Amino acid sequence: MSGVLITFEGVEGSGKTTQMMRLERWLRRQGRKVEHTREPDGTRLGAEVRRLFERPGVQPQPLVEVFLFMAARQQHVAEKIRPWLDRGRVVLSDRYADATVAYQGYGRGVDPDVIRELNTRATGGVMPDLTLLFDLDPAEGLRRIRGRRLDRFEREALAFHRRVRRGYLEIRRAESKRVRLIHAARPPAVVEAEVRAIVEEFFRGA
Ligand SMILES: Nc1ncnc2c1ncn2[C@@H]1O[C@H](COP(=O)(O)OP(=O)(O)O)[C@@H](O)[C@H]1O
Ligand SMILES: [Mg+2]
Repeated sequence: MSGVLITFEGVEGSGKTTQMMRLERWLRRQGRKVEHTREPDGTRLGAEVRRLFERPGVQPQPLVEVFLFMAARQQHVAEKIRPWLDRGRVVLSDRYADATVAYQGYGRGVDPDVIRELNTRATGGVMPDLTLLFDLDPAEGLRRIRGRRLDRFEREALAFHRRVRRGYLEIRRAESKRVRLIHAARPPAVVEAEVRAIVEEFFRGA
């Protein structure tokens, strides 16, 4: 595997999708071969998992949520991420393994170590080379996405999103070399400049 996997994490509305698209354009202008994808719906199977969560009357137990996301993740790695990495691509993923630790672990109370273990299985060891963590007060994030049709997780109470944010910060504390913290409350162009600086530094060291 000669490619590079960069993941985008953070609470709802923190600017992950916005910044991923901007970074992709910038990397392409530099002549890099880039692919972008997202979880859980980066594959057909994953999209079905996401749809399943939205079905009326479907109320998965927390550990069932974990299993469903892991199923989507393994399919995602097998169908897209690993083949792209094998071809030397820069792969950008809007959420990945850390999201399950933050949402189902810290948010829903599943043992984070169990999730880490399952992540190792589901990814076959394909962990991100670099993770950009967009940190924002979830109240502000939810304000930003007001008016959108919200999914099962976006509709959760603020207290849930605060636990998720705390979870992400814990992940970053444990792996501060891989996970880079970005203060996401600033204007998009300012955030973008910092993202570029971090990614440039990463490629210089890679
Ligand atoms: N730095 C920013 N400041 C203010 N609004 C932003 C910023 N970044 C993104 N937005 C807006 O906030 C909303 C959520 O951004 P988005 O990139 O979709 O977040 P996420 O993918 O993390 O949920 C969008 O309407 C987007 O235009
Ligand atoms: Mg998004």
